[in-house]
Amino acid sequence: MANASNRRTRSQKKKTQIKRARSERDRDDRVRVEKFLERQKTNDPFGKFWREWVESRRHLDALLADLPKNKKSEWAPRIQALLRIPSSLAAELGIGLMAGEPWNLSPEQLSEWPTAAQVFKALEAHPEVARNLAFDSSVSPDIVAESQIYGTVDDFPSEMIAQWEKDWGAKVAKKLALELAKPPGVSLRVRLKEDREKIRKELEARKDALSPVSPVGIRFEGYKAVMASEGFQRGAFEIQDEGSQLLAIAVHDPKMVLPLLTKSPGEETHPFSGEIPKKGFPPITVIDACAGAGGKTLAIADLMGGKGRVFAYDIYSSKIAALRRRIGKAQMTNAKAIQLEEGNEEVTLKEFFGKADAVLVDAPCSGWGVLRRNPDAKWKENFTALEKLPELQSHLLNLYSRLVKPGGRLVYSLCTFRKEESEAVSARFSSEHPEFTSIGGGYLGPSQTDGFYLQIWERKTEPAER
Ligand SMILES: C[S@@+](CC[C@H](N)C(=O)[O-])C[C@H]1O[C@@H](n2cnc3c(N)ncnc32)[C@H](O)[C@@H]1O
Repeated sequence: MANASNRRTRSQKKKTQIKRARSERDRDDRVRVEKFLERQKTNDPFGKFWREWVESRRHLDALLADLPKNKKSEWAPRIQALLRIPSSLAAELGIGLMAGEPWNLSPEQLSEWPTAAQVFKALEAHPEVARNLAFDSSVSPDIVAESQIYGTVDDFPSEMIAQWEKDWGAKVAKKLALELAKPPGVSLRVRLKEDREKIRKELEARKDALSPVSPVGIRFEGYKAVMASEGFQRGAFEIQDEGSQLLAIAVHDPKMVLPLLTKSPGEETHPFSGEIPKKGFPPITVIDACAGAGGKTLAIADLMGGKGRVFAYDIYSSKIAALRRRIGKAQMTNAKAIQLEEGNEEVTLKEFFGKADAVLVDAPCSGWGVLRRNPDAKWKENFTALEKLPELQSHLLNLYSRLVKPGGRLVYSLCTFRKEESEAVSARFSSEHPEFTSIGGGYLGPSQTDGFYLQIWERKTEPAER
């Protein structure tokens, strides 16, 4: 009796929660509609949106999320396509560009760039182009692939292409442009306790949706609304790129992932051939030193079947707060988020020196490997600021490597393939730290996964006294 009444109370509570969430969502949408109507009054709503985007430091997704729901589905694919492949799209629509445009425009010129509005409008008149760009999941992937407009080096700033050519040669630079101008697909990481094949069927995904590179991955080439699914609601999977999934596996068992890596981002990632133990990897203590909002933290914790411990650090309270929410939602009892004070990290860390089995330093970087998902980043890149990154990355490696215990491993990862940040920083760490031995490294993606760099060392001797 008591049980039935408890169940009734719980279900009543859940219903109230859902009702409240719905009414909050409706209220948010009403605010968006009002803002949008305000914009409409200018008679140039897209122009206003474009200027806001050029001038704003906010992420494109956040600005798009401010659009009312019906406008978002209409505008977002067109705006994203314009940002991904401005030159190729203009050419497809018969709109001429000046040499080097838009990359040679100053921010002031860019915010008034008439071609942006022209392309945006022309897409309205060409729904067949817009439909393919949207990667509408109702269109068969084969048809989409056939009619896809491919990106070229002209769709990226010339300084960026010059760097790719310097690092990798003209042929690979072209391939990187082609890959990083594609619309991003949706990848899922299936939780260890779930059956990947069952989830695939639940989501009505094709057989080949099972990722060839990640043993816990499912991928959709185009857009797929997975968040409304029952599986997502019950926490059966997370949305996560397969490259990130592999980094989490590498933290537990480098031997499983090192064979997939390539010497250059121009090569295809090799298929995965290992097998994750059913009950998860042996429980260990892991430090996720630059955890951000914790995509990799959750994966590392899940791969131990809820055992072991993952301490996730970041210097930003907003990221730690977001991570704590995610840890709670995913019910990961073996993960803990801790905020560190930048410049004073050692105060908190000192007692943990030499204690961790594995330390992941997923360092801040240029992010060029994820341009497919963040096309606006190439428009706003600060090429001078990039020069400071290797110093920061070396500093973070020096700092967090002290946590690794003898016999433990240090994993350095980046979502970029810029050599100054990847191989140069790794070579410097190896030469300055003879107590660490490199056990391998290389690149993942950006064809099969987002673009990543990975390097792993093992600590051979006792941590140095400080
Ligand atoms: C590439 S992002 C990490 C992404 C994250 N691992 C994920 O999977 O989503 C790098 C992170 O390093 C953090 N960071 C920067 N300096 C740091 C420091 N001194 N200690 C710890 N984290 C730091 C940044 O705030 C940022 O969240």
